[in-house]
Amino acid sequence: MAALSFAHHILLSKPSFFLHSSKTLTKTNTFFSISISSPFIRRHKSTQTIASSLLELGGVQISKQDVVKDEPTNNVPDLIFTKLGLQLHRRDNHPLGILKNAIYEYFDSNYNNQFLKFDDLCPIVTTKQNFDDVLVPADHVSRSYNDTYYVDAETVLRCHTSAHQAELLRKGYTNFLVTGDVYRRDSIDSTHYPVFHQMEGVRVFSPNDWKDSGMDGTSYAADDLKACLEGLARHLFGAVEMRWVDTYFPFTNPSFELEIYFQEKWLEVLGCGVMEQEILKRGGKTDNVAWAFGLGLERLAMVLFDIPDIRLFWSTDKRFTSQFTKGQLGIKFKPFSKYPPCYKDMSFWINDSFTENNLCEIVRGVAGDLAEEVQLIDNFTNKKGMTSHCYRITYRSMERSLTDEEINELQWNVRDQVQSQMNVELR
Ligand code: DAH
Repeated sequence: MAALSFAHHILLSKPSFFLHSSKTLTKTNTFFSISISSPFIRRHKSTQTIASSLLELGGVQISKQDVVKDEPTNNVPDLIFTKLGLQLHRRDNHPLGILKNAIYEYFDSNYNNQFLKFDDLCPIVTTKQNFDDVLVPADHVSRSYNDTYYVDAETVLRCHTSAHQAELLRKGYTNFLVTGDVYRRDSIDSTHYPVFHQMEGVRVFSPNDWKDSGMDGTSYAADDLKACLEGLARHLFGAVEMRWVDTYFPFTNPSFELEIYFQEKWLEVLGCGVMEQEILKRGGKTDNVAWAFGLGLERLAMVLFDIPDIRLFWSTDKRFTSQFTKGQLGIKFKPFSKYPPCYKDMSFWINDSFTENNLCEIVRGVAGDLAEEVQLIDNFTNKKGMTSHCYRITYRSMERSLTDEEINELQWNVRDQVQSQMNVELR
């Protein structure tokens, strides 16, 4: 897929899908509801359903039927529904909560508690909030059904916390942080998971703030932004080398990325910039200038706590959860055991509507967190113009050994569903 933004690990591969203006929405098939036929998953599914028949999300009551619908405009699978409301970022003993609190601490002490914090806004938002309000172009790849979870044609699971910028500005807030779970259809590997967490920051300036600086509002905001985020990076990582990289986001101009040199690599830490004037104007703030940033909590937490696989954040295994303590940033995670992986290859002739994200949705639907990686290992086109893909699926549990029988059953289910739902020809 086009990419997660900051959920990547140290070996960064794909950039944020908001980074590039040139990527436009390619026509993909709208591949919708995924039924789950593994008995293993079914057991899991029913307990989850009972436990969460009515959720409260940011003060909004949500039932499963509100989110997972058997309609062509809905592509939210059961597995994603089970993650709604878990709010890992609100657990003080969880690495994501510890990191969130460390960032709060930085803002509280440097800005005299001026930044208001929101960490319980409902993740179900309108396409207007998620895209239009932050000027995401109509043909941008992030709007596709291949990349975003749609509840219906006008409602999505937010794919970034930027979805709340405009409404908070309209409500009159001028310094705020928004933390939340965000959702993206994506590939499967150690740094990508369809639910992850972001924090957004916004600061608005008035002409009085920059009038004595000898600078225009935009330069003033850009300088302030850079100083603020360099300070944040030092607060989290210590005395590290940093660099600014110019980039593009639809919502900011100019736009930057901050990179730090950590463990012998340049690591992209966050995206930010001076807010597009149009966003402020629509929020009734014509004379103001603002900065904004967005960062991925998993991405930073994986580095700070040495967490090797993004699935671990969801683990309820005591051997994981007991290693972290409120207020202690940077404790290094000690892997408790590495269970053996199991590899299964499958080849098929693809069709025009094939996408890797759709394949990964099937794999996750069947295997859940037992799916560690889905990797394209062979790709060729024959003389008749037919294209074959071979994917290697790695199955591994973070918590126990898997039996051959269990994995074979998962793989047969994946094959079955790939054939019936993606209309590809297995080889
Ligand atoms: N929303 C962006 C993403 O998910 C991150 C981001 C970049 C947020 C720049 C911002 C910003 O507020 O100014 O990739």
